[in-house]
Amino acid sequence: MGETIERRILVTGALGQIGIELLNALSNKFGPESIVATDIRETDKLEDTGIRFLKLDVLDLEKLESLIKEFKINEVYHLAAILSAAGEKNPELCWKINMDGLLNVLELSRKYKFRIFTPSSIAVFGSDVGNLAFQNSPLNPSTIYGVTKVAGELISEYYHSVHGVDIRGLRYPGLISWKVMPGGGTTDYAVEIFHEAISSKKYTCFVEKDTRLPMMYMDDAIRATLQLMDAPSENLTIRGGYNLPSLNFTAEELSQKIQEKIPGFECAFVPDHRQEYANTWPDETDGTLSELEWGFKLEYDLDLMCTKMIESLSK
Ligand code: NAD
Ligand code: SER
Repeated sequence: MGETIERRILVTGALGQIGIELLNALSNKFGPESIVATDIRETDKLEDTGIRFLKLDVLDLEKLESLIKEFKINEVYHLAAILSAAGEKNPELCWKINMDGLLNVLELSRKYKFRIFTPSSIAVFGSDVGNLAFQNSPLNPSTIYGVTKVAGELISEYYHSVHGVDIRGLRYPGLISWKVMPGGGTTDYAVEIFHEAISSKKYTCFVEKDTRLPMMYMDDAIRATLQLMDAPSENLTIRGGYNLPSLNFTAEELSQKIQEKIPGFECAFVPDHRQEYANTWPDETDGTLSELEWGFKLEYDLDLMCTKMIESLSK
């Protein structure tokens, strides 16, 4: 879709960690009037932004269809999902929301021909992946969340090849941001640590100090999303989820970097059940294909990300 085509965008799960930041970026790029933000939760947070907000459960196909028709939507960012740790607490709900929600969006896209962005995750990988995960590494996840992400990638590829749906996806690493707390993932420690470092100079981290996972600062993730959606369709060989390049640090290296910037900060490591999920994920992801096919490169390294997080949260 070229810049000249007016975007009429609907975002599901818009109040989450990614949604709030994506709304801001989409609004800056296309104007608040082109966006309909939806979530299963209510909010008054968006009142001053000019972005329309409506309550929507993605399992409610009838209401989703009526919004697509009413606002003549031509692009959907489908973010509503249950993440890894929350998913293990209620696997049936995780499967239902992650799969039926996506199927509702895909079926309506066949009918109304809108484009779709839907995220995948590093959780598609399992313990056979090795330290560095490539685009074509094996996908044998051990969490129900990871299973829904693999199935989501496959169904996206299917709807693209069989029904011509223009769907695009990214395997986001763990995302680090300051505006909204993360919603029940395994990588949440890498966000919580900043909040606690600033408020109390103490944090008890729920994974071991040598746990190393692929991570990314939110600004890079949002830029990747917009860049992928702007890429010419014919350049893309992947529809389910592109690997992205990632930052690569242990929980202890993160705490040490924060200590450099907040002297006196202390971090303890007391692993809980989330350690098990972290143990099955790679240390780092290879993003060569994203760079080759649509030109994506990271801008934030560990040091710059920590500086930005601390500056933003201290304000
Ligand atoms: P989040 O949990 O912060 O937000 C999800 C939002 O979906 C919430 O606001 C929630 O209220 C909403 N929601 C839940 N059930 C719903 C339903 N039935 N109908 C409508 N809305 C519903 O998650 P996020 O971090 O913003 O993640 C968004 C997407 O990105 C998900 O697909 C997630 O798997 C993916 N992702 C996130 C990360 C990360 O680190 N944040 C990493 C990889 C992939
Ligand atoms: N950040 C997410 C999680 O930990 C990865 O998809 O669940």
